[in-house]
Amino acid sequence: MNNFTNVPELIFKLGGTGYVSKLLKTNPSTISNWKKNNKIPNSYISKVDVLLKKKNLITYTDYDNNIGINTIKKKSKFSILVIIAGGVSCYKILELIRLYYKNNFDIEVVLTKSAQKFITPLIVTSLINKKCFTELFSSEEEENMSHINLARNKDLILVAPCTANFIAKITHGIADDLACNIILASNSKIMIAPSMNPYMWENKATQNNLKILKQRGIDLINPNSGIMACGENGTGRLPEINEIYSLTTHYLLKKEEKRHLGFQSPLKILITAGPTHEKIDPIRYLSNNSSGKQGYALAEEFLKLGAHVTLISGPTNINKPNVNKFVQVLSAKEMLLEVKNNIDCDIFISSAAVCDWKLIPYTLKNKKMSNKDKLKKNKDIFFKLETNPDIIKFVSKNKKRPKLVIGFAAETKNLIQNATKKLKEKQLDMIIANLVEKENAIFGEEYNQIIMIDKQCNMQESEKLTKHEIANIIILKSLKLHKEIYAKNYNRKSNTI
Ligand SMILES: Cc1cc2nc3c(=O)[nH]c(=O)nc-3n(C[C@H](O)[C@H](O)[C@H](O)COP(=O)(O)O)c2cc1C
Repeated sequence: MNNFTNVPELIFKLGGTGYVSKLLKTNPSTISNWKKNNKIPNSYISKVDVLLKKKNLITYTDYDNNIGINTIKKKSKFSILVIIAGGVSCYKILELIRLYYKNNFDIEVVLTKSAQKFITPLIVTSLINKKCFTELFSSEEEENMSHINLARNKDLILVAPCTANFIAKITHGIADDLACNIILASNSKIMIAPSMNPYMWENKATQNNLKILKQRGIDLINPNSGIMACGENGTGRLPEINEIYSLTTHYLLKKEEKRHLGFQSPLKILITAGPTHEKIDPIRYLSNNSSGKQGYALAEEFLKLGAHVTLISGPTNINKPNVNKFVQVLSAKEMLLEVKNNIDCDIFISSAAVCDWKLIPYTLKNKKMSNKDKLKKNKDIFFKLETNPDIIKFVSKNKKRPKLVIGFAAETKNLIQNATKKLKEKQLDMIIANLVEKENAIFGEEYNQIIMIDKQCNMQESEKLTKHEIANIIILKSLKLHKEIYAKNYNRKSNTI
């Protein structure tokens, strides 16, 4: 039976009418008819299936409304590592790993020492038909460096149940067992599903640790409220297994969607971040409050999708992400130079707060002063503003313009009006607007709230979220735009052949 419910979308995802007709050695008009009738003839179904497999595509209709076992069966394998820590709800996770296994996930399981007081590695092995890992130091596992190997290249690492102890350990980078070592050595997305006594949950130590983990980009599956195993009432219950399964699957499908939207593999992303420092003299400079956190979060989240990321950063006080290329700059002029050197990319995101001007010292007689040495207070002095280069405009109007150019606009009033003006004047594909006011103090904060405005002036407003969550919203939208532009260019090219 033909189970392609949205044939136009399917053809689009396979590369468009012209491309598919070429691959299937038919006329473009045949493919157009399939789209018109929303039906693929039975004689072509297996061929289309082969194309889907080649492209590693899945047939699904709507991620948000169709999450579940049937959807996942049709798609390629996700690799997931489940760490089970020593909480009373350990036994429930056996049902979860059975679900993952049944639905063709490539699953590995690690038990902490405390978890083994509640369940055994043998039960896990009998459910997933695989070794269950427990030891950091065992001759066999040491040889294979399992703490490193298990940490790497997973689509997702899930800690469930995540104990208060485990939360505290990973917050502080403790690495005294296999599970903690994996978290520390991981380059994958991490989600935790805490479950504990309500007092342990509400304790400031736990809550502060969770805040830090969220800021690092670790996702939290919040516990439910209700009567606990210990008889106390409050927040701390492990969510239902179906709920955890849905949330993790949802994340993986979204990740898959972003991967497919990536089209060329790997996408080359150029990001600028942080402020610039415009030297006044050897001691003083003109700058702004940008921390660079949003740009760094974007770089980290793009990396998790397998993109090739170049990050050009002004001076910041935060840790450098492990990007493919990191370039440190100081001034707008230096940033422009590095952007020029790295302009060959698919998507350019200008999140840097580039100073609009620099200050040039003059004498009262209007003579330009040297700023080689420290300027003295007692001198007759005034400053002229010299306009800095407009980096995003340079990129956007460049012959080598990347397919997608995205800017940021931080405004103190008339947010939409000012951001839209910038979008149009600089010919951007999208602008991320931030309102800078006391209630939404974005600079240096861990949280952000944005409005995304595209070329057609469609607007999408986010809630107040962590900068990593905001990064993921921006990434999904930009990959969708990138794909649209790619498809348009492709159709234009194939029409002219
Ligand atoms: C019967 C029993 C039930 C427990 N349940 C939980 C729990 O649900 N959540 C939790 O955070 N800790 C719980 N603990 C405490 C943890 O087992 C303890 O903090 C342990 O050190 C966790 O080790 P791990 O984080 O390495 O797995 C429980 C302890 C016992 C004795």
